[in-house]
Amino acid sequence: MAVETVIILAAGEGTRMKSTQPKVLHSVAGRSLLGHVVHAVSQLSPRDLRIVVGSGRESVEAHIADIAPAATTVFQEHRGGTGHAAQLALAGKTPSGTVLVLAGDTPMLTGQSLAQFLDAHVSGKFAASVLTAEHPDPTGYGRIIRDDADELLRIVEEKDATEDERIIFEINSGVYAFDSAALAGAISKITNSNAQGELYLTDVIGILKGQGASIAAIVIDDFTEILGVNDRIQLAESAALLRDRINENWMREGVTIIDPTTTWIDSTASLSNDVTIHPGSAILGSTQIASGAVIGPRTTLTDCVVKEGASVLESIATGTVIGEGATVGPFTYLRNGTVLGDGSKAGAFVEMKNSTVGTGSKVPHLSYVGDATIGEGTNIGAATIFVNYDGVEKHHTTVGDHVRIGSDTMLVAPITIGDGAYTAAGSVITEDVPAGAIGVGRAKQKNVLSWVLRKRAGTKSAQAAEASDTKG
Ligand code: UD1
Ligand code: CA
Repeated sequence: MAVETVIILAAGEGTRMKSTQPKVLHSVAGRSLLGHVVHAVSQLSPRDLRIVVGSGRESVEAHIADIAPAATTVFQEHRGGTGHAAQLALAGKTPSGTVLVLAGDTPMLTGQSLAQFLDAHVSGKFAASVLTAEHPDPTGYGRIIRDDADELLRIVEEKDATEDERIIFEINSGVYAFDSAALAGAISKITNSNAQGELYLTDVIGILKGQGASIAAIVIDDFTEILGVNDRIQLAESAALLRDRINENWMREGVTIIDPTTTWIDSTASLSNDVTIHPGSAILGSTQIASGAVIGPRTTLTDCVVKEGASVLESIATGTVIGEGATVGPFTYLRNGTVLGDGSKAGAFVEMKNSTVGTGSKVPHLSYVGDATIGEGTNIGAATIFVNYDGVEKHHTTVGDHVRIGSDTMLVAPITIGDGAYTAAGSVITEDVPAGAIGVGRAKQKNVLSWVLRKRAGTKSAQAAEASDTKG
């Protein structure tokens, strides 16, 4: 079900968040609150999306330019209520057909539920429809007042409700569909004679009913979809609900999630069947994980590509490509621009950034690899450091195919190690090493005999040395 015009109300201050950031920019599951609403709405392909902004205007507008470049923003300078915000949104080009109005703080709503709601509204030929839910704790929401025949009469805000009205469990979701002409007629008639002194969009419903228009309250099955976020407690609640929804979705698609309560997957990430995720892991941003990969425990991947059968154990990676069958971890830190070839390895206590590791090459232990290109079948010995920074600029290191870098080598960039070359353990390599050569860059060893016996006489070391002499 497509719709012509959608209005998102997002000008509120979000006072209850107690934040310097506008409420709708707070994020859950990898999208801002507003981003979730925009995403749901985008599935209705609206031709005219209008977003009312106010509090934190600059940052909200910048964010909208990012997530919904085709949207028009409408500025509400002073908080006059949801009715006032809707009036401003309608003041521009007069919409025709159906207008969908919703709030920017309901991240759980799905495009599917919105489409079903619009379907019911259009097929019922209603002048106005409101999406409602039976909520176990209706506190804070507007209540749905129905007549004896169970027909929608009006919506009353909690602050204006009588005691009898407050025990109603059916609440207003803040999602409405209007016939544009009916909305235009009624929106000019709302007043601010209520507990909050605001223009309530909800009053349009009662006004239309009074005019004899046909209006409907359409109940959603799953009340969690309409949860609004007004404070940090609701922010955490919606994050947990979204986490469960996302995890259940991936489990249905064939992903094994060992502990869904500690696995956090952004709604923007994608996984294939037969991926296994161990506890305490977060799959964030645009991360894509291919079949057979094993992730975690305690692993955070942000904007990564993990190919078939790779494994990432107890590590953190951002902006990294992990090749087919490659192994990472434990305790590995892979930063932007790392590309690990198929069957390669980034082992324990290894940090990498802006580097390419060729097919089957290994960096198994305790190394820093920065600004490097490593060929195929190469082994980087334990505790090797790619010395990329001269204190002013970063430099590149190139290591060829089938190279053996000895343990504890310093590769001082810019430098090139040729194919099949070796470096001696403990070397500081400052000059290129040609193909097939061994680079040795360390002082020759000299033993000063009996030094301990003379300089450390009487110590356990000296005694051990003496005993060893007599054994000899
Ligand atoms: C509103 C509804 C309530 C419903 C609830 C659902 C009204 C009067 N009340 O209450 O019936 O149960 O949503 O979550 O509509 N906004 C503006 N400009 C304003 C005021 C609000 O743009 O002047 C925006 C807010 O940014 C927010 C949305 O409208 O995205 C709803 O405003 P909010 O203050 O959260 O309303 P509620 O008290 O939650
Ligand atoms: Ca709200």
